Amino acid sequence: MMATGGNMVVMRFPSKAANIGFARTAAALFASQLEFTLDELDEIKIAVSEAVSNAVIHGYKGREGEISLTCRLTDERLEITVTDEGCGIADVDQALEPAFTTEPEERMGLGLVFVREYMDELVIDSKPGKGTTLFMSKSPIQARVRS
Ligand SMILES: Nc1ncnc2c1ncn2[C@@H]1O[C@H](COP(=O)(O)OP(=O)(O)O)[C@@H](O)[C@H]1O
Ligand SMILES: [Mg+2]
Repeated sequence: MMATGGNMVVMRFPSKAANIGFARTAAALFASQLEFTLDELDEIKIAVSEAVSNAVIHGYKGREGEISLTCRLTDERLEITVTDEGCGIADVDQALEPAFTTEPEERMGLGLVFVREYMDELVIDSKPGKGTTLFMSKSPIQARVRS
């Protein structure tokens, strides 16, 4: 059940690079219903663009597939889910290690490190051949001070 004052949007879009920017801005606009600071909104933008770009680049490897982005909020907490039905992650613990990447020529292996750093919570559910879901949540720092 959603708490009083809760809200939710569900978006589904093809895994085109152009949609990475759409997703990060849409998530930040949704998040701005809570009292996040500008720095926190920037952190949310980075986390969402890393998650969605991973779906585009790694999940679908440039093939076209569908990505779902769900943004939900309760009174004091933002929850974001990014799902792809791409190749999945063979070893999630390894994927979370700083500088681990399966594309060492092209990439730095820091995307998931940023997601974990910038969000309060990150849960990755992934099955090889089936796809990947990232669940992340974050509360505004002021909400944490108040409570
Ligand atoms: N949605 C995804 N689908 C498949 N593999 C993924 C996905 N997200 C991350 N990975 C794997 O985890 C690794 C680490 O991701 P990340 O920290 O973002 O680094 P980078 O994108 O620079 O490689 C990727 O190289 C890739 O192997
Ligand atoms: Mg990445």
